Amino acid sequence: MKIEDIVQKEVKNISCYEVKTILGQKSQEKIAKMNLNENFAIPNDTIEKLLLDACRSIDVRAYPPPRGKLASKAISSFLGFSESEISVANGADEIMDLLMKVFVRKRSKVITVEPSFPMYTFFTELYGGSTVPVLLRPDFSLDVDAILQKADKNTRLLFVCSPNNPTGNQFQEAEIKRLLQEFNGVVVVDEAYVDFAEGSVINWVRDYDNLVVLRSFSKAFGLAGLRLGYLISSTSIVKYVQRVVGPFNVNSVTQQTIALALEKWSYFKKQIKYVVNEREWLMKNLQQIDGVKPYSSDTNFILFKVTKPHLTSATVTERMETRNVLIKERGHLPLLENCIRVTVGNRDMNETFLSALKESLEE
Ligand SMILES: Cc1ncc(COP(=O)(O)O)c(C=O)c1O
Repeated sequence: MKIEDIVQKEVKNISCYEVKTILGQKSQEKIAKMNLNENFAIPNDTIEKLLLDACRSIDVRAYPPPRGKLASKAISSFLGFSESEISVANGADEIMDLLMKVFVRKRSKVITVEPSFPMYTFFTELYGGSTVPVLLRPDFSLDVDAILQKADKNTRLLFVCSPNNPTGNQFQEAEIKRLLQEFNGVVVVDEAYVDFAEGSVINWVRDYDNLVVLRSFSKAFGLAGLRLGYLISSTSIVKYVQRVVGPFNVNSVTQQTIALALEKWSYFKKQIKYVVNEREWLMKNLQQIDGVKPYSSDTNFILFKVTKPHLTSATVTERMETRNVLIKERGHLPLLENCIRVTVGNRDMNETFLSALKESLEE
């Protein structure tokens, strides 16, 4: 028997999703790690204390509360949705995986708006479905008519990331509303970055039972390593998602830490404000650098184009790396020729980034 012969076709066709890692680096600020939209603006001491408090109040010899019940309960009282409208998992990534388990198999179609977060396609293909990409307009706005035209009887899901990674903009509420009314399938609005923006469509869950809102603790709360994401949706969708998840998917440390973090919302809110201020500071500085053009952002990152003649985003990214600044090259994506995405860091990181960028443009 050859292993290759019995591996499912979808798994053979997909490649392992590669991510650049720095193992064993305690203080990520030393390497300015600005490539994955993590949040190093929150001091590690604060997070450490939260974790220690959480660890003291749990007993990991016991299995965790099933299906993240402790975390769901905390999110429920924080947001004012009932627990039957919430499902939690190991990061928003795992929520995507669960949604595919519920809605996608061979011949199912999933519409994605491009350029956007690549994991929608990854998970769709893993379950044998195919994605139907619809381009944003050149100003990064949604092309609602094009999306609606692409939908057919096999279409199950539509992913709209708002604010969008990597373009950074939040979409118009009226456009999302039109999709909810006219799209014949489930509309997943990924709000991983919503805390850095102004509005949210979360309350529409009460009006549209085909809306799923995705959220994450990796960005505004600076808890990417803990892995917690959740969805808010109609009870009918949540009921099916709960069927496809293992009973003990989210560990107790994570669940308890999330509950404690939500109690400290006023602290995190201040940190979000800090990131937004840093974003505006970084934006002003980028606007003054000859050879780059930044795009406005409603997130904790900024997308910018390398406009200096004969220089590519790939070269700039490599030059930055030699200066210990990690950023994300996005130039291969549609509409994003020569573009790079940089995460907003604390002031030190942002200054390091700016001086490394100036050197890299002149090298
Ligand atoms: C748009 C978007 N959605 C979801 C995620 C994944 O979030 P999580 O860390 O909760 O899995 C990311 C991570 O970068 C993201 O950019």
